[in-house]
Amino acid sequence: MYTIGIIGGSGVYDMPGIELVKNITLDTPYGAPSGAYSVIKISGREAVFLPRHGSGHSIAPHRVNYRANLWGFKELGVCRILSTGAVGGINRLFNAGDIAIADQLIDMTKGRESTFYNEGKVYHVDFTSPYCPQLRQAFIDGAKSLNFHVHTRGTYVCTEGPRLESAAEIRFYSIIGADMVGMTAMPEAQLARELEICYSTVAVITNPAAGIAADRLTVTEVMATMKESSERLNALIARTISVVTTERRCSCGEALKDAGM
Ligand code: HPA
Repeated sequence: MYTIGIIGGSGVYDMPGIELVKNITLDTPYGAPSGAYSVIKISGREAVFLPRHGSGHSIAPHRVNYRANLWGFKELGVCRILSTGAVGGINRLFNAGDIAIADQLIDMTKGRESTFYNEGKVYHVDFTSPYCPQLRQAFIDGAKSLNFHVHTRGTYVCTEGPRLESAAEIRFYSIIGADMVGMTAMPEAQLARELEICYSTVAVITNPAAGIAADRLTVTEVMATMKESSERLNALIARTISVVTTERRCSCGEALKDAGM
């Protein structure tokens, strides 16, 4: 049983310098996950790593089989997931190269398979705090111990993609309180909650969002910032795993309690 899972987003397809123990290929009732799960040794613990978009970034955000990915982690015994994601900065304080530990979510995706509870018993899980507070704190403590500047909170708006946003959409997201925009936090966060898995995201701001940037947006810019940030990101994940206690002090593990009809 591996308690900690890591979902690598754009630019994070493996964990360099980390010992690979073995790869595990799984099938799930929801189909195939994004690839093989890699069991790695990190900060003295065994953890399971999965690149969200596949090892060669061949799976677009709206085509990721989020249910299969999360189900696979659950089958492997994972009860805590640290994820990474590239985002555009909406809040003027969120500049390219910055790191943010999201605390809130706005879901603007359309038509993704977003629940394990389509049939059978009806569940409405609480989502007041979409990210695990204990894991968020571990990220923040990890960043502090490394002397990294991080935004300790921020609202992530998740769009359907795969296109980037219009300037008017970003203006709208800004008005409704979003600090950053990405394409993958949902339904990942919801599915983790439905499986009673703790979930937290470290977001790397790769570009000013549409209309804030002077120029048109390019993937080249996004990937260049991810490359520049990868060393810090990997160090933060390793440090976070070393500071997080094994005891779960959050309510994520009881998400289904009093949530069923
Ligand atoms: N919008 C949506 N997703 C993103 C962006 C963006 O500007 N940058 C990186 N991922």
